[in-house]
Amino acid sequence: MNDLLLDDIYWIRCEVGLKQLNDDSIDLVVTSPPYDEMRDYNGFDLRIEEVIGELYRVMKTGGIAVWVAGDETRGGDESATTFEHIIKFKKIGFILYDTMIFKKQNPPPKNHRRYEQCFEYMFILSKGKPLTTRLIMQSCKKAGKIRSGNTYIHDKSDIYFSQHKEGKVFSEKIRSNIWEYTVGNAEKYKNIVRRQHPAKFPILLARDHILSWSNEGEVILDPFMGSGTTALAAKLLNRKYIGFEISKDYWQRSREYLKLLDQKIKTDDKTILKFRSEVDEIMFRL
Ligand SMILES: C[S@@+](CC[C@H](N)C(=O)[O-])C[C@H]1O[C@@H](n2cnc3c(N)ncnc32)[C@H](O)[C@@H]1O
Repeated sequence: MNDLLLDDIYWIRCEVGLKQLNDDSIDLVVTSPPYDEMRDYNGFDLRIEEVIGELYRVMKTGGIAVWVAGDETRGGDESATTFEHIIKFKKIGFILYDTMIFKKQNPPPKNHRRYEQCFEYMFILSKGKPLTTRLIMQSCKKAGKIRSGNTYIHDKSDIYFSQHKEGKVFSEKIRSNIWEYTVGNAEKYKNIVRRQHPAKFPILLARDHILSWSNEGEVILDPFMGSGTTALAAKLLNRKYIGFEISKDYWQRSREYLKLLDQKIKTDDKTILKFRSEVDEIMFRL
């Protein structure tokens, strides 16, 4: 890939922007597409099959695409558009490596006759067997206590079976595939730069996926950059980034946020130092 294209966001619809990228040039995609008619991002449409085909072409073998999405409910009926998209990904050749949940700790309350909607899907789609899986660990509450039941493991061919091992509970375990974040004004690290966008995802969500599925220096793509969250997280984690955004307004703002971030990094802003020290404390299963 032409390095001059990297570390910038382009004001262009992604169906066109993606065509400028070389085959097998992207290590990781972290994105959230515009879905259904839920929000009018200045009235733009989406040619989904073209996008999915181009993503497959530009991604490296072993690369992962994180697709964060939800469905609209209209007249009491959920659209299921997300699932239609995932079937298209599979038909093109992607592996559906995992279906994860982005749980919102503080979903905006709605007045309706169903349980409060508090999550979106995070589909993990890989082009072939994933190359990087640096899984984030968490502490076990019962560390050191005697284990009563069986343990379960995946062997080298990813086959799942139980082991009858007696022993103590380990101090750490792999995180579950439901990740919780505060959203909106309560978002942790919103002060890195206060991003204005009706559907941004938390910077910590982008952080955790980038840490899990990529290495320093690799190239992260977001074809629907919005306020630039993926680019900001990539920069903070020493990855390269590239992205597209169709709305001139969001595009201009995302580039302003990246400039602000640059200044904060240069001046060792306290929020940046705290973000970095938190990253240093994250444990991984390599
Ligand atoms: C869900 S938002 C992404 C928000 C982003 N993840 C963030 O944290 O700010 C989707 C974005 O895609 C943009 N968009 C819609 N259609 C597009 C297209 N065809 N190409 C590029 N961007 C598009 C919208 O303007 C919107 O900003």
